[in-house]
Amino acid sequence: MLAAVKRPLAVVGGTGPEGIGLALRFAVAGEPIVIGSRVLARALDAAAAVRAAVPGADVHGAENADAVASAGTVVLSVPFSGLAEILAAGRLVLDGKIVIDVVVPVAFRDGFCELLPVPGGGSAGEMIQRALPAARVVSAFKNLPAERLRDLAVPLEGDVVLCGNDAAARAEVAALIARLPRLRAVDAGALANARYLEALTALLLNLNRRHRAKTSIAILF
Ligand SMILES: NC(=O)c1ccc[n+]([C@@H]2O[C@H](COP(=O)([O-])OP(=O)(O)OC[C@H]3O[C@@H](n4cnc5c(N)ncnc54)[C@H](OP(=O)(O)O)[C@@H]3O)[C@@H](O)[C@H]2O)c1
Repeated sequence: MLAAVKRPLAVVGGTGPEGIGLALRFAVAGEPIVIGSRVLARALDAAAAVRAAVPGADVHGAENADAVASAGTVVLSVPFSGLAEILAAGRLVLDGKIVIDVVVPVAFRDGFCELLPVPGGGSAGEMIQRALPAARVVSAFKNLPAERLRDLAVPLEGDVVLCGNDAAARAEVAALIARLPRLRAVDAGALANARYLEALTALLLNLNRRHRAKTSIAILF
């Protein structure tokens, strides 16, 4: 009997620093990856860069819609400013898929990072779930800076707090996170907690500016 082929993890917006960082770390962990972009050439370039950094990695590039179609789990790694547009376009068929939301609705004003209002209220995670009711949205990685993800010479450490309304999806994302050495998944339960994960990122970004740091978090139980 033929062994089942593992479906890749797609990263929509995977040409940006956060998406590439996640692709690099999951590629090191041996996950097949498809990097998505609005422009195929950019996706192919990003995939080639990940393969160059992680020899032997199973990483390909595709336009976002094709990347999503081939994947079981999808990371949505686009800027908040483009989120409404990409959700409204309806080209990403995400029904039944686990959607890992890493989006943080923040902006800097006069050197201070603040949360932006989310259309419909709540968090970016809840906005995505409202737009995609049949997707299994799990917010995660919101407190992990791209600079840390991308620097493969330095091990990751700390916690990835995740939340979502589908317990089985949360467990699957926790299992994915467990593949990244030294990172721990902390299950926060309901997706409404994404509001606080996003607010925490605003604080971390202000700390980064003040202390010239790349902060992330650990939860002490
Ligand atoms: N950077 C961090 O340290 C960090 C940490 C935690 C969470 N996050 C969150 O992760 C997400 C990605 O962060 P990033 O820094 O990688 O963002 P980014 O560089 O601004 O954008 C990522 C990619 O999204 C695509 N994109 C841009 N505008 C778009 C639009 N209007 N519609 C659809 N796609 C668009 C672009 O890819 P193409 O042009 O190739 O399509 C771009 O390369 C953000 O929501 C951010 O808040 C970032």
